[in-house]
Amino acid sequence: MPEAKIAPSMLSSDFANLAVEATRMTKNGADWLHLDVMDGHFVPNLTMGAPIISCLRKHTEAFFDCHMMVAKPEQWVDDIAKAGGQMYTFHIEATQEPVKLIKQIHDAGMKAGVAIKPKTPADSVIGEIAELADMVLVMTVEPGFGGQRFMADCMPKVELLRSKYPHLDIEVDGGLSLETIDASADAGANVIVAGTGVFKAEDPSQVISTFREKVNT
Ligand code: DX5
Ligand code: ZN
Repeated sequence: MPEAKIAPSMLSSDFANLAVEATRMTKNGADWLHLDVMDGHFVPNLTMGAPIISCLRKHTEAFFDCHMMVAKPEQWVDDIAKAGGQMYTFHIEATQEPVKLIKQIHDAGMKAGVAIKPKTPADSVIGEIAELADMVLVMTVEPGFGGQRFMADCMPKVELLRSKYPHLDIEVDGGLSLETIDASADAGANVIVAGTGVFKAEDPSQVISTFREKVNT
């Protein structure tokens, strides 16, 4: 299994102080920063887009893991690449042509991730899509909002994907905390996204290092 990458979700940060919050997380040991892009169509919420990501890019060297909760993922590839995005994760539910989209993302110089919502089966990405993609994101809450409860019933999908793809980055996102990390790590997830679990912690560095330990052992 690839090594742990811990990706705090900036959705739980103070948006008026994004640069300070990003630096706080990298100083606390974050490997990646998870940036939740929502368009009000694919999910009933609005967050940030390329203009904010490009402003943040000037303040940190961190790897930008962009989670695109958007109805038209094809539309934003070039903008996010220019803004400094490095992983572009689209939802399988939002596209008819995932293989073409993965190629478009790679051509734009980014890694390609594919996300599945809690009710979407792992089968929807197993095969050509998972083989071409750099990462599969198994959502552990319904996308749209931070602070929701971790859905343990998504773990069999992580197990199945890990058994088929031992070297693939498998990301979990939603409700990750010290209480839910064991289930995720045991199932085989190695990229851990956490908003509330890290930003609201008294000691974010301890949470991040515990996540890393659980994944790597
Ligand atoms: C939800 C987002 C998550 C969110 C996770 O749609 O994709 O990245 O920020 O937040 P927590 O960790 O609070 O569930
Ligand atoms: Zn996310």
